[in-house]
Amino acid sequence: MASAAVTAAVSLPSSSKLSSSRASISPSTETVALRAVRPRRSHVLTSRRLVSTRAQVTTETPAKVEKVSKKNEEGVVTNKYKPKVPYTGKCLLNTKITADDAPGETWHMVFSTEGEIPYREGQSVGVIPDGIDKNGKPHKLRLYSIASSALGDFGDSKTVSLCVKRLVYTNDQGEIVKGVCSNFLCDLKPGTDVKLTGPVGKEMLMPKDPNATIIMLGTGTGIAPFRSFLWKMFFEKHEDYKFNGLAWLFLGVPTSSSLLYKEEFEKMKEKAPDNFRLDFAVSREQTNEKGEKMYIQTRMAQYAEELWELLKKDNTLCICVD
Ligand SMILES: Cc1cc2nc3c(=O)[nH]c(=O)nc-3n(C[C@H](O)[C@H](O)[C@H](O)COP(=O)(O)OP(=O)(O)OC[C@H]3O[C@@H](n4cnc5c(N)ncnc54)[C@H](O)[C@@H]3O)c2cc1C
Ligand SMILES: NC(=O)c1ccc[n+]([C@@H]2O[C@H](COP(=O)([O-])OP(=O)(O)OC[C@H]3O[C@@H](n4cnc5c(N)ncnc54)[C@H](OP(=O)(O)O)[C@@H]3O)[C@@H](O)[C@H]2O)c1
Repeated sequence: MASAAVTAAVSLPSSSKLSSSRASISPSTETVALRAVRPRRSHVLTSRRLVSTRAQVTTETPAKVEKVSKKNEEGVVTNKYKPKVPYTGKCLLNTKITADDAPGETWHMVFSTEGEIPYREGQSVGVIPDGIDKNGKPHKLRLYSIASSALGDFGDSKTVSLCVKRLVYTNDQGEIVKGVCSNFLCDLKPGTDVKLTGPVGKEMLMPKDPNATIIMLGTGTGIAPFRSFLWKMFFEKHEDYKFNGLAWLFLGVPTSSSLLYKEEFEKMKEKAPDNFRLDFAVSREQTNEKGEKMYIQTRMAQYAEELWELLKKDNTLCICVD
């Protein structure tokens, strides 16, 4: 199996302006158009939609989406730890990965698992925040996409990492409300115990074909599962897996100060320039030639023909996290 993981420090945001994009792909016959529509509800995981689709050539728009079920995926562990008997991990590291002037805070955190939560790239874990709700009952778990590869950020298969956005909003009464679990997590100090459940989910597992073209579309913390895939592809050595296909990441964020894991991704690009493409859509700083806001679909439209050629191949997979 895996031998060594190249250490890559969690990257902090850079102030430099970058290019960058969320989309659904529906090419027509004559012109290749990338429509600015939200992805279809194909594989659904409660509030976060995970869409994994293979391209199909069609003369009609929108293109048909073929569901690829992972329900019978073998050897993938799910629900080892349930809410009644969760696993207690320790927070080993918690770092803010957005700059101070970013609209909103996102944190990268690593928890010890001692290998007891045997997750795969593309799965999620549950977190049960400490404390009780307004009815005096323990808080319910919240799901978070795993942001580390199965080897984990320390390369020893004994940790799991998350990428969490602190939820803060103003309610109808004008009060500032803080999301329970995201604030619990973003405020965690290293050394604190955390109740974890799972792993869960088989719908978003990392594609196995090392020669595939994998187009990844994510906004904000939707980057989490892609970071997990990309670490396995470009930062690790595995006896039974060497990525030799093309990974193309489109990441959409509001400002360059909220770009997530930028340095890591750039390092991957340096290591594997022929196998990794990286495009950012910075919605509040960039526009296209028509002056439209730069969303991931806007950025993708700039590569419409290239993307369309890739999508016609049998081994191209387009994955969107919403
Ligand atoms: C499969 C899956 C994977 C996920 N992965 C991640 C991840 O990787 N990273 C991540 O950060 N999150 C992720 N989430 C979201 C995460 O589970 C939580 O929903 C999120 O952190 C908020 O939880 P909370 O406890 O902080 O908020 P809560 O205390 O649960 O509050 C959330 C509630 O607040 C209300 N609310 C929220 N915003 C507003 C608003 N603007 N106006 C009015 N009301 C509002 C809504 O009723 C909402 O349900 C994922 C969710 C799923 C289902
Ligand atoms: N279920 C949950 O509770 C939960 C929690 C966290 C994240 N998520 C999901 O994960 C994703 C990232 O959230 P985040 O808060 O981490 O992201 P974020 O940092 O706020 O970034 C989201 C980016 O997507 C852009 N965007 C908004 N509408 C879009 C559209 N229609 N098409 C394309 N891009 C669009 C935003 O642009 P502008 O803001 O400039 O318009 C912004 O650049 C979201 O889809 C969110 O729903 C879900």
